Amino acid sequence: MDLVRDLEALAEGARLSIASASDDRALEELRVRFLGKKGEISAVLRGMGQLAAEERPRVGEVANRVRDEVESLLVLARQRIEDARLEQELRGSRIDVTLPGRRLLPRGHRHPVTRTTEEIVAIFARLGYEVASGPEIELDWYNFEALNIPADHPARDMQDTFYVDGAAIGRPEGEGAVLLRTHTSPIQIRAMKRAGSPPIRVVAPGRVYRSDYDQTHTPMFHQVEGICVGPAITFADLKGTLAAFARAFFGAGTRTRVRPSYFPFVEPGAEVDVSCSICGGSGSRSGARCGTCKGSGWLEVLGSGMVHPKVLENVGFDPAAVTGFAFGMGVERMAMLKYGIADLRLFYENDLRFLEQF
Ligand code: DAH
Repeated sequence: MDLVRDLEALAEGARLSIASASDDRALEELRVRFLGKKGEISAVLRGMGQLAAEERPRVGEVANRVRDEVESLLVLARQRIEDARLEQELRGSRIDVTLPGRRLLPRGHRHPVTRTTEEIVAIFARLGYEVASGPEIELDWYNFEALNIPADHPARDMQDTFYVDGAAIGRPEGEGAVLLRTHTSPIQIRAMKRAGSPPIRVVAPGRVYRSDYDQTHTPMFHQVEGICVGPAITFADLKGTLAAFARAFFGAGTRTRVRPSYFPFVEPGAEVDVSCSICGGSGSRSGARCGTCKGSGWLEVLGSGMVHPKVLENVGFDPAAVTGFAFGMGVERMAMLKYGIADLRLFYENDLRFLEQF
């Protein structure tokens, strides 16, 4: 009887079967099979009784070595199986970061004034206009003077605003009045001065202020201003640009007409009308007079004109070398005309029943 050889054979068998075990249950079975009380090592040791006394220590030594080895092989195998299980779990439950978030609250959206502003600006951006901005607290010079509206000019009456105590906000004396801008037109002055020289093509959205309050006027509202100055810019460029804008904003079939008007900072000045977006220009809607265009078929949407030579001089441009056109429109008004909204104040009441319609 060669117990040592039996033990070596047993060890070899244990190595192979432990290496190929693939789960905890298989390992447990192997532990019982090799190390258990009725296991293979015990069975070999039971044969020791028949051995000569001097052979026993050597067999005992080999048996201990084999038991230690099998024990540590089992520990390593358990670790291997646990690692594999974890690895698989991680692979299976990979986090998909592209899944939409869970909605705990209903998701909001941009305010119709913001949306409309972005729509208008995007159209001019496609026409090659850069976007500019300027301060809402403005100097009299930019808001009025530089735009050819001197202190005693009657045009100031239509743009009464709120004045700021210049000294209180650290403006040096002699810079003139400090006020909340009444229109976005001061941004065209700032943009031209910043550019330093023509050509320039800029669109400028922003908040403006006037001391007005009724169904079609709020003390704060929004405008988008535009200006294009360069060599040989003509009135035809103005018409073409604004007609293209009207088609992009109100729809492909929109017609445009230009009426003479007066703004101190342009010459000639023009009011631009578009065919009514609600009745399609017919003036009537399901047999009745269209309420949006009051039956005329036309909507007045913006002011425009060829930049006045004095304005060009005020910013250091040479009116003999360059010409340009400018325009300005009210954002709330554009949204009202596009969506058929009757009362401007709805934009600022933040009533969800109104806001959620956009
Ligand atoms: N700033 C004018 C207003 O608020 C609108 C306007 C008219 C702007 C004609 C312009 C323009 O640039 O050329 O009433």
